Amino acid sequence: MKRTIFVIGLTLLLAMTFTIPVFAGGWAVVTLDELPGEVEAGQPFEIGFMVRQHGVTPLSGQSPIIRAYLDGTKQSVSVIAEDEGGVGHYAAILTLPESGTWQWEIEAFGAAQPMPALTVVDASVTVAKSEPVAASNPSTYPLLVGGVGLLGAIGGLLALQRKVRWATAFVMAGILVSGVGFVSAAGQPKVASEAKQPVSLSADEQVSLGRNLFIAKGCTLCHSHSETNKFREFGVDMGPNLTNFTASPEYLRIWLKDPSAAKSTAKMPSLGLSESEIEALIAFINDK
Ligand code: HEC
Repeated sequence: MKRTIFVIGLTLLLAMTFTIPVFAGGWAVVTLDELPGEVEAGQPFEIGFMVRQHGVTPLSGQSPIIRAYLDGTKQSVSVIAEDEGGVGHYAAILTLPESGTWQWEIEAFGAAQPMPALTVVDASVTVAKSEPVAASNPSTYPLLVGGVGLLGAIGGLLALQRKVRWATAFVMAGILVSGVGFVSAAGQPKVASEAKQPVSLSADEQVSLGRNLFIAKGCTLCHSHSETNKFREFGVDMGPNLTNFTASPEYLRIWLKDPSAAKSTAKMPSLGLSESEIEALIAFINDK
């Protein structure tokens, strides 16, 4: 009997030794690809992010959970992100059903990482968003002209078969018109409706964007900062406290792009920040 208990105990102990490391993967830094822009109620949008174990090593094979809570209600939404695009990168589609302020967090492993609150707006009226009707789009006119010319040329050819005299002239005119039409259609600039307008932010907006990035990129996990510490459910203080830190923008541009380029022994990882993200982070760091 004692022996059985011993065996069961030993088995349990072994099982625990082998399962615990799977759960307790230490801690991770979640770095959002980008802050979600304007989010509309009921409209699915993608969240992509990197998971780095101990803030450094990209780690795949996890099932990070994204949870969102609507302020002032009991409503919540959660979704599991999946490996997508490169080691340690995950993505999930999230739909927030109602407008309002949503608090949200991503839990990769270890503690959940709170993200800057999301403002969700009511879906805009569909009419305003619909595409313009093709016929009223001026860029289709040259194509029409080309088509008419082509028809003329074909008509002329048919007439030529019946030996009508003016047919040759008709064919020539048709080819000319269709040529002019198609060439100018090709020369038309593409409608740039999709192109993103560069938004110029005021100094204050730039600072608050930088603060949100400081949270969303996971800087908060390694750096204490009085402006973001309330978003810190868990922190390691691996890097210096940045509350009173300032440095020249020139230096910070190099540092934030790739710390190891600035200092070969740097422990801080390169987080793949874009130039505009770096500018906003610099504005936040130097705003004292
Ligand atoms: C995994 C931990 C970690 C993360 C995440 C992290 N840092 Fe660091 N950071 C460090 C460490 C460690 C140092 C100290 C220098 C070194 O050894 O790398 C540092 C140093 C710095 C410095 C000071 C550089 C200097 O010359 O004194 C700044 C500024 C900084 N980090 C900003 C950021 C920002 C902004 C982010 C987020 C985009 C960030 N860090 C994310 C660990 C981290």
